[in-house]
Amino acid sequence: MKNFTFQNTTKLIFGKGTIEKLAKEIPSNARLMVTFGGGSVKKNGVYEQVTRALAGREFVEFWGIEPNPRVETLRRAVALGKEKNIDYLLAVGGGSVADGTKLIAASIRCAIDPWEIVLDASKSNEILPYAIVMTLPATGSEMNLNAVISNDATDEKYGFAVSHHPEFSILDPETTFSLPDEQIAYGICDTYVHVAEQYMTTAGQSPLMDRWAEGILLTLIETAPKIRANKHDYNAMADYMLSAAMALNGYIGLGVTQDWATHDIGHELTALHGISHGQTLAIVMPGVWRVMKAQKMSKLLQYGERVWGIVDGTDAERAEWAIEHTEKFFRSLGLATRLAELNVGEKTIAEIERRFTERGNACGEGRNIDGKKTAEILRACAK
Ligand code: NZQ
Ligand code: ZN
Repeated sequence: MKNFTFQNTTKLIFGKGTIEKLAKEIPSNARLMVTFGGGSVKKNGVYEQVTRALAGREFVEFWGIEPNPRVETLRRAVALGKEKNIDYLLAVGGGSVADGTKLIAASIRCAIDPWEIVLDASKSNEILPYAIVMTLPATGSEMNLNAVISNDATDEKYGFAVSHHPEFSILDPETTFSLPDEQIAYGICDTYVHVAEQYMTTAGQSPLMDRWAEGILLTLIETAPKIRANKHDYNAMADYMLSAAMALNGYIGLGVTQDWATHDIGHELTALHGISHGQTLAIVMPGVWRVMKAQKMSKLLQYGERVWGIVDGTDAERAEWAIEHTEKFFRSLGLATRLAELNVGEKTIAEIERRFTERGNACGEGRNIDGKKTAEILRACAK
């Protein structure tokens, strides 16, 4: 196991009816800005619950943080925050609202453009306290330091890390009942891949991390059909929601190597074609596993056996079957697993190869996935 330092300071408030706890958690003298997406919270009653919890207090509302939040939108929120002298933020929505709010919190007290902070987070000298009411289980943003921001002007999409966790996050599984089927599919896939990025490397680094990771993967595999049958199944949604938070809050990645190539490549597909984050992952991850099979062999065999019960066959056969089972699971969610299904072809592959080569920083747990390898991976999931 590698050395590590771990601290996660987010207070997790979980369960039915917990939005009313907002009032006690946010300091009464806070100059508060509440941020939202495009309006789902008005349709599902979450906005009403938030405003009821904050009754009698003054706060500024900022609406319109879109999926794959754009820096162009967030600059407007930062300007409003500066004008109103905001000192506390509350994000209400999915991962995009949460991520966008992290950038706003890191930018209000800074003189530089928010995009500079995305490119180099150390340029933010102060981050305001912020909290999240999470309505979409997927990103883990409710309990981590990460934010992923898009730039329309340059077709770029990058992740960065802020210096402070959310003060608290409220997760009420009932708020997820209004999610469209495709967002649930993207969210389950995103959660699965977050676990896999921290797990599918080399066997034998930490039995504890392996068991925790496998526990989340098995929970998702068991829970997904229940959710597909009835998305108002409270306990199934609760397990899915907690899985998403646990998948990317640091706990399952302690002292082990991590991959993240699927995410790095997937962000390019979103930046260039607007493909939803979870959908990009369902396509790219099987490609990463196939091209990097030799490097990941020990873990693919362990995963195949413990998660899918694959014990017979040669190593090569078992590894391939493990990948096929994973693809089948993604397809059972209703997701595509090939680029051709979304009409993405060779032109995009060449552009992504060019971008990775130009940046020069290879990714994956072995830091050996460069531009050329990226193109090989994308070709492995082309058709
Ligand atoms: O904008 P509104 O109207 O709120 O609607 C949203 C949006 O259209 C809707 N939605 C959210 N909660 C809902 C709901 N609709 C009905 N009922 C509800 N309860 O869902 C749509 C998608 O929302 P979005 O926030 O974009 O989805 P998600 O949570 O999947 O976030 C995706 C973004 O997070 C980034 C992705 O790259 C992408 O930009 N990620 C962030 C990570 C992190 N912070 O750690 C890690 C991830 O790997 C990921 O990269
Ligand atoms: Zn993700």
